[in-house]
Amino acid sequence: MDTPEKKKVIFSAIQPSGTITLGNYLGALRNWVKLQDNYNCIFAVADLHAITVRQEPKTFRQNILNAYALLLACGIDTEKSLFFIQSHVHTHAELAWVLNCYTQFGELSRMTQFKDKSAKHADNVNAGLFAYPSLMAADILLYQSDMVPVGADQKQHLELARNIAERFNGIYGNTFKVPEPYISTVGARVMSLQEPTKKMSKSDENVNAWVAVLDKPDTIMKKFKRAVTDSEAVVKVGEGKDGINNLIGIMSAVTGKTADEIAIEFEGKGYGDFKTAVAEAVIEEVKPIQARFDEYINNKDYLVEQYRKSAEIAEKISQRTLDKAMKKIGFIAK
Ligand code: TYM
Repeated sequence: MDTPEKKKVIFSAIQPSGTITLGNYLGALRNWVKLQDNYNCIFAVADLHAITVRQEPKTFRQNILNAYALLLACGIDTEKSLFFIQSHVHTHAELAWVLNCYTQFGELSRMTQFKDKSAKHADNVNAGLFAYPSLMAADILLYQSDMVPVGADQKQHLELARNIAERFNGIYGNTFKVPEPYISTVGARVMSLQEPTKKMSKSDENVNAWVAVLDKPDTIMKKFKRAVTDSEAVVKVGEGKDGINNLIGIMSAVTGKTADEIAIEFEGKGYGDFKTAVAEAVIEEVKPIQARFDEYINNKDYLVEQYRKSAEIAEKISQRTLDKAMKKIGFIAK
């Protein structure tokens, strides 16, 4: 019989920088919720990662809490999963330092996200931004995670986490489980509504480029109506039709219909009708989440109780791995 201890371990996290987008939801959060029944799931609000970009303290504090409440609203269940705030569990920053010393400058320089973000924040290319993937590796390796459900944009960071784990194990013997990425087939790469060759990102300054899970229905409708398409006016996946391909991808992820079924349904209809239908499907999907979010965010005591409870357990689990790694390196135990 499968005992709970034998369930595979899943770890994933999300940054609380700004708003949580439809990309985050379809690419990651929705899968996390589904995985909770069959795996030992550990999730975190990755606030330590977020300070690689300057944050305004008051807004940052609110964003962390909002992210926590929103994930609960999406269906993360603290009875089934551990769900904590990264900075509350000190082992993450500690193992990140250790792993920094087993990560090469060349490897970190090749990270696409580092290249993108350092171009975007040219006035603040800090060491944290550079070393960000070692912290992410620490998050994952501390829990001996088997699988990491993420959107396609995090694949490169995960490969690096695997390389770091293998390198460490190669030097000191088996210490860390080497994790597998888990990238779903639908929704893994939701694109910008304005520049559909770029991923939808909450840090995009053009607010019409992304849809937030907490956007009001009329805002969602407006953003989809403004979505960039092409001049062909045929609702069908095709080359060079990045905007429509993206909208079909979103529709498919939200409704469960295949791209072919969607093409048949909208045969002979214009892009206007299709955009409205996609917006309506998204509005339906986020409506119950928004209602639950309002309840959670107004119940601060409950949030505090949940994140403290999970952090305490996470600390115990992760401390075991940290101690093991430190001992292998040659540090003296207290
Ligand atoms: P973050 O906060 O940028 O995004 C959270 C999750 O959402 C996915 N995602 C997307 N999926 C599809 N389409 C998009 N447009 C899109 N945008 C974002 C991301 O792939 C991610 O799964 N470094 C991570 C957070 C992190 C982490 C970890 C993840 C910290 N430690 C350990 C896994 C394991 C990040 O910045 O994700």
